Amino acid sequence: MIDVPPPHDGPSPDGPSPHDAQPHDAPSRDAPPHGSGPRDVPALVRAARDAAAALGFTMACDDQTGSLLRTLAASKPGGHILEIGTGTGVGAAWLLAGMTPDARLTTIEVDPTTATAARDVLSADLRAQVTLADARSWLIGYSGPRFDLVFADWMTGKFEDRDLLLRHLAPGALYVVDDLLPHPTWPAEHHERVATFRADLARDPRLMPTLIDWSTGVAVATVVPAP
Ligand SMILES: C[S@@+](CC[C@H](N)C(=O)[O-])C[C@H]1O[C@@H](n2cnc3c(N)ncnc32)[C@H](O)[C@@H]1O
Repeated sequence: MIDVPPPHDGPSPDGPSPHDAQPHDAPSRDAPPHGSGPRDVPALVRAARDAAAALGFTMACDDQTGSLLRTLAASKPGGHILEIGTGTGVGAAWLLAGMTPDARLTTIEVDPTTATAARDVLSADLRAQVTLADARSWLIGYSGPRFDLVFADWMTGKFEDRDLLLRHLAPGALYVVDDLLPHPTWPAEHHERVATFRADLARDPRLMPTLIDWSTGVAVATVVPAP
């Protein structure tokens, strides 16, 4: 069970639906709190946003984080890129906009409805593979090439199971997360979770991180080669 209560109601005994807005994703990405967004939003991003609106899906990354994802993806020519938590494909579309033609994106989504929507949006781009799976199970079973960039946009690999994810990242890979700035809908325990995450990131010897208090709160970390 994913241990994040819904933002408005009490904790559900079954845990939140993947469609529920989660506390760590609570900032409405329509109105980023800091700075301004890019003017050149790719058509595929707009299509993924339309798909999100049609489903009432509110957890897509904002355009600032998306633009950063595009920039970072462009720094990995021919790279293997991973996203955990596809939603309807907004983050994936930003990543694809930065990737070279020979780069590949794997994006993992547990919810069939959003995964199908993302597949519909991204199907024209053969570099993208939307995989319907629980991220933790998928990471345990994965034996392919190591990744050069990961956007960890769900609990798995972010607040939980970071070791499991890091073992699949190449030296020099970029580890990217968002939603680290406080939001009024966060329950108390989520503030603690994020504070712990930020502190852990700063002292993890495997990572060279920068915390960026911009957009919804972003961290970018480089995987440091083992000594
Ligand atoms: C913050 S949203 C992702 C938004 C997406 N990255 C974007 O930028 O548009 C988190 C996603 O993780 C998915 N998710 C929830 N539990 C998961 C799990 N165990 N494994 C994989 N994905 C999961 C949710 O269904 C949701 O679509």
